[in-house]
Amino acid sequence: MSSPSSVDQDRLFSRLVELAEIRETDCPGWTRRSFSDAYRRSRGWTAELMERAGLDVRTDPVGNLLGALPGSEPGLSQIVVGSHSDTVLGGGRFDGMVGVVGAVEVARVLQASGRPLRHPLLVADFLGEEPNRFGISCLGSRAVSGQLSQAHLGLRDQQGESLAEALSAFGSDPDRIQGSLWPSDRLLGYLELHVEQGARLERAGVPLGIVTAITGIHRAVVTFTGRPDHAGTVAMAERRDALAAAAEMVLAVERMARQTSGQDAGVGTVGRLELTPGVANVVAGWARGWVELRSPDASWLAGRRRSLEEEVVELAARRGVEAVVEWVSSESPVACHAGMRRLIAEAIRDLGVRSMEVPSAAGHDAAHLSRLCPVGMIFIPSRQGRSHCPEEWTEPGQVARGVEALLASVVALDQVSSL
Ligand code: GLV
Ligand code: MN
Ligand code: MN
Repeated sequence: MSSPSSVDQDRLFSRLVELAEIRETDCPGWTRRSFSDAYRRSRGWTAELMERAGLDVRTDPVGNLLGALPGSEPGLSQIVVGSHSDTVLGGGRFDGMVGVVGAVEVARVLQASGRPLRHPLLVADFLGEEPNRFGISCLGSRAVSGQLSQAHLGLRDQQGESLAEALSAFGSDPDRIQGSLWPSDRLLGYLELHVEQGARLERAGVPLGIVTAITGIHRAVVTFTGRPDHAGTVAMAERRDALAAAAEMVLAVERMARQTSGQDAGVGTVGRLELTPGVANVVAGWARGWVELRSPDASWLAGRRRSLEEEVVELAARRGVEAVVEWVSSESPVACHAGMRRLIAEAIRDLGVRSMEVPSAAGHDAAHLSRLCPVGMIFIPSRQGRSHCPEEWTEPGQVARGVEALLASVVALDQVSSL
């Protein structure tokens, strides 16, 4: 069956532009972080967009925004499409948003076509996919797959607020997280459209990517406690400089990630450092670094994780500081479902568009959904591979082609009863 192909490129793109404008105006780029007022307002905008597309809209206990479209055959399991609409600090206009706005457009086109799917369709704007101030990413997709634990809810930010408190203040109900759980036997599959955030598609001149696997991500917060001292009167040999220890760890992470060549093996980053007291004439008494290790290879991650712990113990002892390594999340690499990849490839081929298989070095809600049902992801190109920055860009025609591929994949999935 051919898919109704009335995805409207101009409407789609103007919605992405409108959504991007709902942002934290005192922050750089296109910032809309979890729990911010801009994020709250943007979700009101998205709820309205869903309603206008004919979806029955609700917010679940954790704060996922969900729009449902009934299927024509009673009792069939659900097809889920979606992504996220929060951004990193100083982020772009496409990471996550193409998947949400694109999924609503798929629902709108299906409604307008007068040919309902056999299966019910659920459009999901998952809560807080990007790492937040508690160090946790993918809040909403963790909750639906039973992976948002009490330990996560108890994590505290620098001001001492817990994740549970932040959720309550945002209007979610952390005491009823269980109510967000999705029964896996009621799900046919999950499809997510996303920007590649790398440059493989652009380099190959191929408009669509079918994701093979999603990288594993281990995140740690490493805290060094030394001794604050006068920066003039205390000799170098006497110091217990917490920031110097953290700086040494930054270089150790870079070195251990570089030991294997190429991004395909793995990458390591310290993207955030905090210190006190943070003044020019005081030796830092306290420092904290946020470490990330990513790889499609679980054994690479396990090896680097061990090395990090060993190096931190060694350098802290040598410098006379205390160190605590706290692993806040440990996500294994996830393969996208082989049957779903075939289904997407055929749907794209039937559209007469070229595609190629690509791995994802970015994390996604789909990784958590894979615990519940077959998942598939479609990538569209990112200009020069840039992402998590204001320059993030995908051409309107490329976005529309991605949404057409998503629509065609949903229609193809609707034809099967299992994968
Ligand atoms: C999400 O964008 C991630 O890869 O961190
Ligand atoms: Mn992101
Ligand atoms: Mn994303």
